[in-house]
Amino acid sequence: MKRVPVIAANWKMNLSIKEAENLAKELWENAKDIDDREIIVFPSFLQIPAAAGILKNTNIGIGGQNLYFEENGAFTGEISAFQLKDAGCTHVLIGHSERRHYFKEDYETVNKKIKRALSSDLKVMLCVGESLEEHENGLTEMVVVDELESAFKNVNMNYLENMYIAYEPIWAIGTGKTATPKDASHVHNIIRKTLNRIFGQKAALEMRILYGGSVKPDNIVSLMKQDDIDGALVGGASLEAKSFISLIHFDK
Ligand code: 13P
Repeated sequence: MKRVPVIAANWKMNLSIKEAENLAKELWENAKDIDDREIIVFPSFLQIPAAAGILKNTNIGIGGQNLYFEENGAFTGEISAFQLKDAGCTHVLIGHSERRHYFKEDYETVNKKIKRALSSDLKVMLCVGESLEEHENGLTEMVVVDELESAFKNVNMNYLENMYIAYEPIWAIGTGKTATPKDASHVHNIIRKTLNRIFGQKAALEMRILYGGSVKPDNIVSLMKQDDIDGALVGGASLEAKSFISLIHFDK
């Protein structure tokens, strides 16, 4: 089964509005002819309109790094699905480990956010992954399966084509340590089997599973060669046009 590769940039809490605009311009100039892979950027909220000004209605998708699950109202400091779409977003990241760990997002919150995003017609990239301690204690499979099952509880099957999974081992994020292609592939395989159990074989075969955690131009090729790795969610190396452009063109 051939799945279209996805290369995504998580800019996290970085870049000024001007820097985001310049980066978006450079990406578009270097990726406008690409039609055999998906490219998505996730700027921070205030930078979304600048990126959308350049990228809206192009082949590069734009996503929020988070949203709140309520529709609107008195939730100071939060951003709704409608507001993300209004600003030009097509996608949203949900359950990033930095949200789960620093902001204490629990399974139920992640589940509610996924439902709100999907019913608002946003495409969801759900992040899962184990901590260093869990990794060292052999708990990776248990953690990842729990995160998937809780996230997708009562999620409507009609939305399956609007979902992606990003496997991001927390110990590999921003540390320069990457899971070996073999280890990453093993966990991706577990994720696909879990998706099969939750949603059935067709969905499991079609859903793209990205790897994230210190992806760089010099390791992407070996990761992308693995059968179950369909893309990369990139933090640090997505902040410079040159390295992200080379990641987008990883096999060219
Ligand atoms: P790094 O590529 O900086 O390790 O970040 C990965 C990540 O968390 C992407 O969401």
